[in-house]
Amino acid sequence: MPCPVTTDVVRAADVLRAGGLVALPTETVYGLGANALDPKAVARIFAAKRRPAFDPLIVHVAALADWPKVAAAMPPHALALAARFWPGPLTLVLPKQPAIPDIVTSGLATVGLRVPNHPLMHAVLESAGCPVAAPSANRFGRLSPTRAEHVVEQLGDDIDLVLDGGPCAVGVESTIVRPDADGVTVLRLGGLPLEQIEAVAGGPVRVAAHESPTAPEAPGMLPQHYAPRTPIVLVAASDVPRPPAGARWGLLALQPGPDAEAPNAWAATELLARDRDLVTAAAGLFAALHRLDALGLERIVAVAFPDAGLGRAINDRLRRAAA
Ligand code: TXA
Ligand code: MG
Repeated sequence: MPCPVTTDVVRAADVLRAGGLVALPTETVYGLGANALDPKAVARIFAAKRRPAFDPLIVHVAALADWPKVAAAMPPHALALAARFWPGPLTLVLPKQPAIPDIVTSGLATVGLRVPNHPLMHAVLESAGCPVAAPSANRFGRLSPTRAEHVVEQLGDDIDLVLDGGPCAVGVESTIVRPDADGVTVLRLGGLPLEQIEAVAGGPVRVAAHESPTAPEAPGMLPQHYAPRTPIVLVAASDVPRPPAGARWGLLALQPGPDAEAPNAWAATELLARDRDLVTAAAGLFAALHRLDALGLERIVAVAFPDAGLGRAINDRLRRAAA
């Protein structure tokens, strides 16, 4: 039986306090939340997602001032980023508080911490009164949900409640940043563009290469991830293939290509932003992939996005989906 869907914040907070699993809206994607201080509740997240135990969770709090509940230290350059971008699509990797159970961090000495920017999520965090561990509310390796119905589809049978906060405004996961001695390292490109971090960082900004499948710096950043079930290929805008006659191929692109006027050879087309606005494109990305994936196509051809701003995070997700 699929779990109930509600807009009742107090009910969601009650379920969390009682050790239950609640899918929660954030501005990036829906998270699958549990009380971060309750190891049994957190264990249920791993079971519901079929997530390997080596992949640590992000912990969410209501406000910047709550960081000491989760992290043991906040270096000045991390605080500068937090003060500027929280609430928002930024996760900081910080030394963890002993109170945070090892299952949350997969045994690491650090913890991912974020203050999300969504009114319902904020109200739940305030009402529950505990930090909430929440990975994206999808099965491991699959597409992240940006609508309540995406969650019900993938996890409805294994969780207690979905809090429906409408479609996610940002649409790609948070940018994960680790402060280092001499600057910061971006471990995952995401909803906060690199350019904005560079403007505040006051030191070098490195972007970690995620090419090592065995020891990625963010343990969840595997080369293959964020994948629909339909095979997907990523091509340059100058290299879009023509579907063979009779083939059922879908197209995912920012805007119509040079071929747009030709007789439509595509079984389905998703154009994310005709005005080339990458904010609109990111917000619609996963919903478009969910729709294409539901059509039983033979393949999805994704056209690479401009490699700047949110385009970087979109391309990162598409590369992993295609790996
Ligand atoms: O936008 C988001 O970040 C969403 C919403 C729900 O907040 N959450 C999300 O969680 O995307 P998840 O579990 O799908 O991705 C979390 C990523 C994983 O790649 C994990 O390896 C990394 O965060 N991570 C968590 N804790 C870490 C740590 N201590 N050190 C390095 N990476 C960490
Ligand atoms: Mg995820």
